[in-house]
Amino acid sequence: MSTATVDAKPARRATGYGRKPSTYDATITEVGAGTPLGEFMRRYWHPVAISEKVQDVPQKLRVLGEDLVIFRDRKGRPGLLHARCAHRGTTLYYGKVEDEGIRCCYHGWLFDVEGRCLDQPCEPDNGARSRDRVTQPWYPVQERYGLVWAYMGPPEKQPLLPYWDSLEKVGPGEKIWVTGSSFGAGGDDAHEIVPCNWLQDWENIMDPFHIPILHTSFSGVQFVPEMGVMPQVHWEHAETGMQYTAYRKLDDGREMDRVTLALFPHVRIVPSVQLAPGPATGIGFVLPVDDTNFRLFHAMRVPQGFNGIPRLPGRKWGEMSEEERQRFPGDWEAQVGQGPISLHSEENLAGSDKGVVMLRRLLKQQIQIVAEGGDPLGVIYDPAKQVMKVGAGNFFKS
Ligand code: FES
Ligand SMILES: [Fe+2]
Repeated sequence: MSTATVDAKPARRATGYGRKPSTYDATITEVGAGTPLGEFMRRYWHPVAISEKVQDVPQKLRVLGEDLVIFRDRKGRPGLLHARCAHRGTTLYYGKVEDEGIRCCYHGWLFDVEGRCLDQPCEPDNGARSRDRVTQPWYPVQERYGLVWAYMGPPEKQPLLPYWDSLEKVGPGEKIWVTGSSFGAGGDDAHEIVPCNWLQDWENIMDPFHIPILHTSFSGVQFVPEMGVMPQVHWEHAETGMQYTAYRKLDDGREMDRVTLALFPHVRIVPSVQLAPGPATGIGFVLPVDDTNFRLFHAMRVPQGFNGIPRLPGRKWGEMSEEERQRFPGDWEAQVGQGPISLHSEENLAGSDKGVVMLRRLLKQQIQIVAEGGDPLGVIYDPAKQVMKVGAGNFFKS
């Protein structure tokens, strides 16, 4: 009779113990001035506010890690200035808006929307001899589609503001509707800032496989039941970014292609999640607030009577308890759940992540182009190319 030997020290599966420190890829996540991504981002126009909300009471804004104030002077011009007063640094948030600009509350220096110092009431002759030497840091702005757009990059590289074909052809009985709410990231109207890195939202746009899981089977049907069909997906380059086509054969026999785009620097064009047929009528922008917060702006072409996206089934995000969010998570929970900046060193990417991998690679290429002094994709200088074409939509074949 033989006796089986017993290994005193059986091999054990690795545990959480002794792991290397986790890291994230700073090249595609950090947005501050002087960082590779920050300089890339600063080559584009960004939506920073809803036009009609920019009035004569200054508002605080944080964009690409910079603290700013936005206001509209009494001549109607929007102004975007650094919040910290160029005199001794109090915030212009407490400033008073006048005909010509904003006056700091502390010593009354007056700045116009291009940062010129027009008045220094505590100085002889109101600072006439020296005030021209002072500039309050400022950024150019434009208004279109009901949004205020800012350019925060090198002045000599300022491009044209892109126009979008789907927003240009507003027909009779239609209008452009804008929102700065977090609804498109699983939040609601009462929450504008989403507390995680912008890339977690933008790359989610190239991840069609979370739709049948997170949005359809895991938490119940958040959009429509048809989204539960596992799609066949093809990812490819688009002119200024990338796109995927998700093919589905629906239970009723209809076949459809759903085309979704992610364009530089942070544009997301998602067709109707209710599967309304035809081209997408809305465009979203994932604005990095700083490294660990983002916010969304959306502009949509809608019927005149439209006054807000219909609520999804269930309760608004802000009304849900912590337990309800655990039981019925959505985009907010999934994206913020990845952490303030997702730890790329800990990922195990699979075949269904192909779009995410492609998007990161394309983004790195464009960041490198900027670092080498070139112009990234989607930055326009030729007026003949100012209108961007949008090929997204839900296209039914039968
Ligand atoms: S700190 Fe603004 S005027 Fe002095
Ligand atoms: Fe989603």
